[in-house]
Amino acid sequence: MLKPSTPALDVSDIQATVLRPRPSPYVGEYVVLRIDDAAQGREMLRRIIPHVAPADEWWVPSLPGWLGIAFTYQGLKALGLPQASLDSFPIEFRQGMAARAAILHDFGGNAPSNWEYPFGNSEMHVALAVYSDNEQHLGEVLERARQSHHDLAHVSVVYRMRFNELPGGRNPFGFRDGLHNPHVEGSVAEEHIALVATASEPPIKAGEFVMGYPDELGQIVQAPIPEELRHNGTFVAFRKFQMDVAAFRNYLRTQAASPEEEELLAAKMIGRWRSGAPLALAPEHDDPTLGGDTNRNNDFGYADDMKGLKCPFSAHIRRINPRDALKDDVVDVNLHKFLRRGTNYGSALPEGVLEDDGAERGGVFLLIGAHLQRQFEFVQSQWATDGNFISHGTEQDPVIGNNDGEGVFTIPKVPVRRRLHGLPSFVSVRGGEYCFMPGLRALQWIARLGDDTG
Ligand code: HEM
Repeated sequence: MLKPSTPALDVSDIQATVLRPRPSPYVGEYVVLRIDDAAQGREMLRRIIPHVAPADEWWVPSLPGWLGIAFTYQGLKALGLPQASLDSFPIEFRQGMAARAAILHDFGGNAPSNWEYPFGNSEMHVALAVYSDNEQHLGEVLERARQSHHDLAHVSVVYRMRFNELPGGRNPFGFRDGLHNPHVEGSVAEEHIALVATASEPPIKAGEFVMGYPDELGQIVQAPIPEELRHNGTFVAFRKFQMDVAAFRNYLRTQAASPEEEELLAAKMIGRWRSGAPLALAPEHDDPTLGGDTNRNNDFGYADDMKGLKCPFSAHIRRINPRDALKDDVVDVNLHKFLRRGTNYGSALPEGVLEDDGAERGGVFLLIGAHLQRQFEFVQSQWATDGNFISHGTEQDPVIGNNDGEGVFTIPKVPVRRRLHGLPSFVSVRGGEYCFMPGLRALQWIARLGDDTG
């Protein structure tokens, strides 16, 4: 019998990055390593494992800094994983994100040929993610990570990128972000459930996000093998975006007759006002109190807005998480959820500036789930870049769609809907990759590989 305060999931074996929201404010760094010698790679792993944070008490916000670690298919190969184990991974993970470009709609400027090194390259092996509440703690965790490989000639750092919270917890477009994540069943002690759950969204089965537990179909995934490797592990789709803030502001300016209308159009595109207040609850005007109220700003659905008059069908958050809007459809929305750890990089473009300053700024998303294909890939290909499911033809997501100057955005309205044309791509993909984020015991299992053969 579990004690009332014990979550049903083995949170002490699941990595913190899976369940724990980033601190606020946050700073952090992503580091990518290349491994040219399996034994040295495993030595690095042995040294770094004590510093990889578990998800214990993830709902308690204060933890000064933590490290997460994940591997690409090429990385697992470089670490000497047995062939049978490598072959047992799902096809999309084995191929890597770049090879899935046609499915993901990564064409034109978003094509892998335009990605930053090492994305889409076989030299991306190990990804480290460090989240911290200040520079000093970040430096301490990064130093521990550096110590794990600094004297290993065949383990090299091939990429580093800093990220940081922008003022007010906004993304570069000016919207509050990091507001919504599904509630993972069994991941939190019962007496704290109220902190993470809302009445309008049921908890989602843990197996959707962590291997080793039943998922929404009542199944427990059986791959990759062996069980020691997959238990408490999950997959991460890593996506880095450049955000063209000037293009976003200019587009709003050309389409709106007043600053108020600009704000309304921006909110229609996202489905929330910049304060975070959802259109579903505040359809006419922003409500910053609601936006900042974590008990209320996610407590909504679309069942009473089936004409999209409050929140357009095509708004980013409604497309990408239709909540109860598809309840009469064959689609089971719960099969297409993932956890989202979003971070921003670069500085904010000063308020009111309409000229691009050429600076790099944007967002990096870790989209986390046990089923890459029916979660991230499905959402990206069917909901973000195709409008069929909402009877919108080829209309794409107004914000993350690959719109390229020819995008359309439909705003239902009485007596006539409004259609915006000529949407540019406000964001462009700078890189991405699929990673496997094992549980802590599985990390030990990988580190021990090769022990028998010396
Ligand atoms: C630069 C690219 C992106 C921007 C600017 C962006 C912006 C936003 C904003 C402002 C929100 C509302 C606040 C929040 O809950 O965080 C949001 C929510 C969300 N976004 Fe994105 N996003 C981006 C990329 C993505 C991608 C690539 C995915 C997945 C394919 C995604 C999935 C989601 C989901 C699932 C939500 C929560 C929906 C809900 O509230 O029901 N976003 N995004």
